[in-house]
Amino acid sequence: MRIAVIGAAGNLGNVVAHEARTRGHEVTALGRADVDVTDAASVKESVAGHDAVVVAIKGPEQTVSRGAQALLEALPAAGVDRLVFLGGGGSLLTPSGQRFVDSPAFPPQYLETAMDQAAALDILRTSQTDLVWSYVSPPPVHLIPGDKTGTYRTEAGDTPLIDAGGESRISTGDYASAVLDVMEQDLFPQQRFTVAY
Ligand SMILES: NC(=O)c1ccc[n+]([C@@H]2O[C@H](COP(=O)([O-])OP(=O)(O)OC[C@H]3O[C@@H](n4cnc5c(N)ncnc54)[C@H](OP(=O)(O)O)[C@@H]3O)[C@@H](O)[C@H]2O)c1
Repeated sequence: MRIAVIGAAGNLGNVVAHEARTRGHEVTALGRADVDVTDAASVKESVAGHDAVVVAIKGPEQTVSRGAQALLEALPAAGVDRLVFLGGGGSLLTPSGQRFVDSPAFPPQYLETAMDQAAALDILRTSQTDLVWSYVSPPPVHLIPGDKTGTYRTEAGDTPLIDAGGESRISTGDYASAVLDVMEQDLFPQQRFTVAY
C-alpha cells in the first residue's frame, strides 16, 4: 500500500512508519514542514495518490481535533478512502463508567491533549462520511517504548483491555503492529478500537 504518515517524526508516527516500511509498504513521511494537518487544502495536496493515511499528531490550540475535521474534508476530496487515527486512551471508560480523563488521578501533563483527542473522536463519530476511519486508543497510561512481541489483543469499544494482573499495557512495537494489521485487514471501520496484552 501507499501510506502517508502525518506526524511521522513523532514518537508514535515514527514507530508506525517503521513498521509499515518493514512490511514492504511505500511510506510518505510527513511533518509540519510538509503539511498543516489543520488545513484541509494542505492535507488534500499532501495525501493525494495514497491508499491510506495514518495520522499521529499533537499540538497547541486543538491541533488534534481541528486535524480530524480537516482530514474528514480532505481525504475524500483527494480520493483517499482509508484513515487510521492514532488516538488517545484518556477517553476510554473506567469500570465505574467515568472517562479516565475526567478522573482526578489522570496525569495533568497529558490532560490538554487527552481532551483534544476525545474531541477528535467525537468529530469522527458524528461525521457523515464515506471515508473509512478507525480510531485507535492505546491503554490510558501504559503505552511503553519497546519492541514488538507479535502477541496482543484488539477490541472495538470504549473500555480498555485488561491483562491477568489487572493492568492495561502495550509496547509501542506491538501498538504499531496492530495499526498495520488493522489497515491491511480492513478491520474496525467507523470504530474506535483499543489494543493491549
Ligand atoms: N496513552 C495514551 O493515551 C497516549 C500515549 C501516547 C500518545 N498518545 C497520543 O498519540 C498522539 C501522538 O503522540 P506522539 O507522542 O507521537 O506525539 P509527538 O511525538 O509530539 O509527535 C506529534 C507529531 O505531530 C506533528 N504535528 C504537530 N502539529 C502538526 C500540524 N499542524 N500539521 C502536521 N503535523 C503536525 C509533529 O510534526 P513535526 O515532526 O514536524 O514537529 C509531530 O511529528 C498524541 O495525540 C497523543 O495524545 C496517547
